[in-house]
Amino acid sequence: MNTSISLSVPAQLETEALVAVVLDQAEPSANDKDKKPALKVAITDAAVQSAAADLLASGELTGKPFETNLLHKPAGLKAKRLLLVSGGSAKKFSSYELRRIAGTAVRTLKARSIRKFAFAVPEGIAAEEAVRAIVEGAHVGNFDPDYYRSDRKDQKIDEITVVASGDKAALDKAASEAQIIGESQNFTRDLVNEPSNRMTPTTLGERAKKMAAEVGLKCEVYGADKIKELKMGAFWSVAQGSDEPPALIIMTYEPAGATTKAVLGLVGKGITFDTGGISIKPADGMEKMKYDMAGGATMIGAMRAIALMKPKVKVIGIVCATENMPSGHAQKPGDVQIAMSGKSIEIINTDAEGRLVLADGLYYARQLGCTHLVDAATLTGAVVVALGYANAGIFANDEDMYERFHRANAKAGEKMWRMPLDDEYKEQIRSSIADIVNSGGRWGGAVTAAMFLKEFAEDTPWIHLDIAGTAWTEDQKPWIAKGPSGIALRSLIEFVKSFA
Ligand code: BES
Ligand code: MN
Ligand code: ZN
Repeated sequence: MNTSISLSVPAQLETEALVAVVLDQAEPSANDKDKKPALKVAITDAAVQSAAADLLASGELTGKPFETNLLHKPAGLKAKRLLLVSGGSAKKFSSYELRRIAGTAVRTLKARSIRKFAFAVPEGIAAEEAVRAIVEGAHVGNFDPDYYRSDRKDQKIDEITVVASGDKAALDKAASEAQIIGESQNFTRDLVNEPSNRMTPTTLGERAKKMAAEVGLKCEVYGADKIKELKMGAFWSVAQGSDEPPALIIMTYEPAGATTKAVLGLVGKGITFDTGGISIKPADGMEKMKYDMAGGATMIGAMRAIALMKPKVKVIGIVCATENMPSGHAQKPGDVQIAMSGKSIEIINTDAEGRLVLADGLYYARQLGCTHLVDAATLTGAVVVALGYANAGIFANDEDMYERFHRANAKAGEKMWRMPLDDEYKEQIRSSIADIVNSGGRWGGAVTAAMFLKEFAEDTPWIHLDIAGTAWTEDQKPWIAKGPSGIALRSLIEFVKSFA
């Protein structure tokens, strides 16, 4: 999607459709039943206000978030159509809602075969912040996952113009960075969307290499030999059960003149299909385990955005990609494996495979000189029990690191909720035969999985993101299709930018 900024007066802009946000100015009241919305277009342009006036005064609208109304030939506007999208209460309105409104506008208009439109920055949000939210949200809305349907319409918006006022150069920069982020998020979603027969560890490595060549990143993809040579016994213990060769993907971004000694390591779980292995999963819903490489795909997409945005900090992306299969070569419950760090692991459950590949990925990142680590993984069903689909789980072994990431979350408009990592939980992963077991049992499963990873991050400041409940949108929403969400990528970019 091409993105541009226009400093025009909204009413004077010639476009297929002009999108304006409608906000409810009424005081939020305890008694919602008697509350009448006081709806107002959130742009100062009097012509747009008056074009919408009759509809807003009609009492036909609820003003609830994401309500849409399309007016043709709006009086006094050069636009062919005026699309009003409700943003709910003016008091609560922020760029978080604006992102979703932009996605809603895109999904509404593209379904009507409209290919170009303009979006007027609403009042109350600083122009640059608004531009970022609109452009990012529009990209999210533009994605549809129905790749293999013969009747796929492939409707897409080709061009968005954001109508804003302010310093043109700064607004242009905001728009172009937001476009890079939006495209990278959709690149990640494309990878996650592919079924496991079309996205093997080898294919994932090839896609990373191709992307890297396009954006000027260094990228190496290693196979089984290197994994064994590095003594990645935990990673290999999962890979050994599959006929598909594993891939260790290393992407390096090293800017000239880095302004910090920090080296950031982004480590992703890349299980291209998780059957559970010998501790096999039930058939019901197993098809979803094609998205068990979402953490890895997020890191590949994030490295793409970083290479294009060029922050002055070194970043290494590591993806441990393999299938988790039952076979005559597969590891069995009770087996003991030695991780790259030298720690011994008793395998209690072969379905707790993500933490095994990440154990070696995190340790290797430290060997490569990373001073700060972030991993992303569809790690546990337990995080879905704890937090549902609205928030990803965030775990940290360092307060400064947490604060920094938390700020990045807020800027990026992604919801994540901090989970504990107290020493008490360590008892659950004690083994009587080895250093640790790979499953802490039923209670606090997301926490014990993170405690396992902590054994390999050790004292390096580290963040773990459990995205099992958030990497896949179960039901379509007005602003996003059902399917891969691309969660965490935007926060990662904000986090990386905070160092440079
Ligand atoms: N990939 C799964 C976690 C998962 C569950 C991702 C639901 C997305 C949606 C992971 O490898 C897994 O199987 N975890 C087990 C761990 C258990 C055996 C300790 C789980 O959560 O049940
Ligand atoms: Mn599993
Ligand atoms: Zn898994």
